[in-house]
Amino acid sequence: MDKELFKTRLDKDVEDVEKILKELLPKAEGPAATVMEAMDYSVMAGGKRLRPVMILESFRLFSHECDDKIDHKLGCFMAAMEYIHTYSLVHDDLPAMDNDEYRRGRLTTWKMYGDGMGVLAGDALLNYAFEMMMKAAEESVSCHAECATRILKASAILSKKAGIYGMIGGQCADIEAEEKEDVTIGDLMFIHEHKTACLIEAALMVGAVLAGADDEQVKLLERVGSNVGVAFQIRDDLLDVIGNTEKLGKKTGSDAANGKATYVTINGIEPSKEKVLSLSKEAEELLSSLPGDKGFMLALIDSLIGRTY
Ligand code: IPE
Ligand code: IPE
Ligand code: MG
Ligand code: MG
Ligand code: MG
Repeated sequence: MDKELFKTRLDKDVEDVEKILKELLPKAEGPAATVMEAMDYSVMAGGKRLRPVMILESFRLFSHECDDKIDHKLGCFMAAMEYIHTYSLVHDDLPAMDNDEYRRGRLTTWKMYGDGMGVLAGDALLNYAFEMMMKAAEESVSCHAECATRILKASAILSKKAGIYGMIGGQCADIEAEEKEDVTIGDLMFIHEHKTACLIEAALMVGAVLAGADDEQVKLLERVGSNVGVAFQIRDDLLDVIGNTEKLGKKTGSDAANGKATYVTINGIEPSKEKVLSLSKEAEELLSSLPGDKGFMLALIDSLIGRTY
């Protein structure tokens, strides 16, 4: 896909995502107003919105239904995904975890609202994500049975990929690896696959399931997501060393400060760049075997290889 076309479509997707995120967030009022404000602060700080964009574009690989206007149920899943991702960042930044003070160009949630409210804002975003999925499920009751089945399947995928067999499992291994002397490349691959790739796999799978893709196609997208996700985390590890704090919106050198073993500390900068490239190319090859117009998705994967933020 032509670079300009890609950029225009990505900008429009991100704009649509921002609108949905804002619309669905609770208005900060009542006795729990502070935690609601902290949710808003964390979510609306910006960020690439990669995962909800992936849901939308994966949907579009299989259906033209949302080409012009995004269906409300699809929007609920896009928001749920970004709320879960944001909660993972809010907790990841806590003093008990990576102890980071900047995120998305502003103070981290705990730094702004205190540790306790940081914990609660993360909890609240996770819970709210499930409220969004339930909202989509409720709406689907009045649709035909197939629609309700798709919503159920998509909810099961996102729940599992975010949980102990997915992102949380990866974060668990990530914390434990800090105390380990000899972190192997196998340990690291488990961490990357789970803490990061699982949500990216879920994004591609959820969009496809909601659009009615078959099981084989969804499985293939899971493999695409696995490659893209691991590459995405290796690039994140690289940026922690060679990136620019202002551009990234988060401080570089965090991994070194926490004594983390990363793909870069184990293998070095150049081999890490090569690995990002080979994983991404493998993902693109896999994706190419799907029917339909993959132009945007291929360009999106390509744009992540050398990303600077
Ligand atoms: C950061 O994710 C955490 C990782 C999994 C590396 P992103 O780089 O997608 O963060 P935002 O959403 O753009 O802030
Ligand atoms: C985080 O990995 C992955 C999550 C599940 C939050 P990092 O700890 O490397 O992410 P950043 O660098 O803080 O964004
Ligand atoms: Mg971390
Ligand atoms: Mg971190
Ligand atoms: Mg990092």
